[in-house]
Formats: sequence, C-alpha cells, structure tokens
Amino acid sequence: MNSPLAGKVVVITGGTRGLGVAMAEAFGDAGAVVVVGSRSARSVEEAVAHLTARGGRAGGYACDVSDLAQVQALKEHALTTFGQIDVWVNNAGTGGPYGPTAHIPPVEFETVLRTNIFGAYHGSWVALQHFLPQKHGKLINILGQGEQGPVAMQNAYASSKGWLRSFTLALAKEYADSGVGIFAFNPGMMATELLTQLDVVAGYEERLKIMPTIIRMFAKPVSAPAQKVVWLAGPATDGRTGLVVRQFKPWDALAGALREGMRRLLKQEAPSLEMHYRTIPAALGAEAPHIENHTNRQ
Ligand SMILES: NC(=O)c1ccc[n+]([C@@H]2O[C@H](COP(=O)([O-])OP(=O)(O)OC[C@H]3O[C@@H](n4cnc5c(N)ncnc54)[C@H](OP(=O)(O)O)[C@@H]3O)[C@@H](O)[C@H]2O)c1
Repeated sequence: MNSPLAGKVVVITGGTRGLGVAMAEAFGDAGAVVVVGSRSARSVEEAVAHLTARGGRAGGYACDVSDLAQVQALKEHALTTFGQIDVWVNNAGTGGPYGPTAHIPPVEFETVLRTNIFGAYHGSWVALQHFLPQKHGKLINILGQGEQGPVAMQNAYASSKGWLRSFTLALAKEYADSGVGIFAFNPGMMATELLTQLDVVAGYEERLKIMPTIIRMFAKPVSAPAQKVVWLAGPATDGRTGLVVRQFKPWDALAGALREGMRRLLKQEAPSLEMHYRTIPAALGAEAPHIENHTNRQ
C-alpha cells in the first residue's frame, strides 16, 4: 500500500465504539495496524474482530485509562504484539451527568475527571516515554465542548476539555524540538452514546428535551472527524507540533438549522433517534462525605 501510514502502529484509547472505532477503521483503511483499548474486555474483543473482518491488522487490550498501570499494560501489549508504536490517540472520554455542580454526587463528577483528565494524562505520559527516546511519534488528544470556555450544567466534562487543551499545548511547547508531534483535535458534535445516553440530575430533565433537535441539527457522522485524525497523524503535520484542529464548520451548523427548519415547515417526520436518559438523585442537601482533618506540617 502506498499510504504514508501503511505499517504504522496506532493506539486508540476508547477505541471500541463511537469516534474511537471510526478512527480505528479509518487508520485500518490507511494501512495502519490498530490497537484499541476500553474498559470492557468483550467490547475490545468485538472491536478487534470487526476491524480484522474489514481486512485490517488489529489488536486490543482491556484498559481503564484512569489507572496508569493499565495504560502502561496497553502500551506493553502493543509493543509486544506489533513491535512499535507510532501514533497514540487519547480518545477515551465520558460526559457525566447534566446539572449544576453542587447537585452532582462527587463520585459521578470525579469519574469524568478521572477519565478525561487523568486518562489523557496517563496516555500522554506513557506515549511520551516511548516517543521521546525514539525521537518520533504523534500524540493526539481529543478535545470536546468546553475546551474554549466554561459550559454551565456540564462543568465536569467541559472543564476537563479546557484542561486538556491547555495541557496539550504545554506539552507541545515542552517538547517542541523533540521530533514528536503533539496535537489537539475537537471532532465537533457526533450522535454517539456520549450524546444519546445521558445522565441527568433529578429536576433538570425538562432542559434536555431539546437534545434530539440539537443532535439532528448539529451532529455529524463520525467518519469525517475520524478521517481528519488520520490526516493529523500523517506527514501533513510534520513539524507542526502544537496544532489545534477543530472539525466544527459554521456553514455546517447553518445548513443543519435550515434543514431542521424546512423539515418543520413541511411537517415532515423527524428521523428517528434513540435517546436514553437516566435520572440521578440531586446531591444538594445530601450529607457531605467525611473528610479527615488534615494538617500540613512542614
Ligand atoms: N460525541 C460527541 O459529540 C463528541 C464531541 C466532541 C468530543 N467528543 C470526544 O470524543 C471522544 C470519543 O467520544 P464518543 O462520542 O465516541 O463517546 P462514546 O461513544 O461514549 O465512546 C467512548 C469510548 O471510550 C471508552 N471509555 C469510556 N471510559 C473509559 C475509561 N475510563 N477507560 C477506557 N475507555 C473508556 C468507551 O468504552 P467502555 O465504556 O467500554 O470503556 C468507548 O469505547 C471523547 O473524548 C469525547 O469527549 C465527543
């Protein structure tokens, strides 16, 4: 195959569904070997079978990115099985409940931070341990809503993506002359489980009724952002470390809004979209978790 990515080994965290598996397919189509990880061993097995059935070379390893040891094990698995790693994509992410911050149980809020912040930190750390000595490699961190500013009612998710953008740009500065490319990518809205399986704090359900309309207007198929990530991993970005790329195009949003307006005007039926909502009890007023009194002596 003539593709510049032919034979390269690409690790994708959260590579078993949504954008992750779409990127795995796109890298596979470009001739790359793909290693996917996610928490569910069964999903990993199914994703590997799917990617192999499409004609690609693929491997996988069950890995929760919030645990550094598991991310290291993912790297070791890729190296033992395929002998090299050329691209690492920190894609695993979770949305967390919709609602105001003090109403969200700390355990739910922290799950988002552990996945989106610690997960991306672990993946970046592990990838750089490998890329820096070999003086090449591409690290791609997947951003999301909130990377450019605060988003009320989605504070855990949005602030984690703001942190990730800042973290990625700092890494790019620190290792500017290392030969390693460090990039951030915001794929824009996609109708994946992240958006169609929503947790909401009790009392805030009404506000999410608009979600199907928003998804119909603005969500794009996963294939376009997946292709863009393949581009980011390729030679077009050589020497361009620190690049932040966004898939969102204002024209697409306008076209989506016009399409939805026309549909309503013509009283056409809305395309079906399966949404799942889980209501969680509000934490406000609940007893605060017990914290040991701690004095910091120096
Ligand atoms: N959908 C959107 O509109 C949108 C917009 C902008 C950015 N993004 C970003 O795109 C990325 C992919 O999102 P998506 O929409 O494809 O979501 P998705 O369909 O929910 O897929 C998330 C993937 O991450 C895995 N995952 C979740 N928590 C994990 C953990 N702790 N450790 C390892 N894997 C974990 C999931 O598998 P398991 O559950 O089996 O672990 C799954 O494979 C995320 O970083 C998200 O923030 C999405």
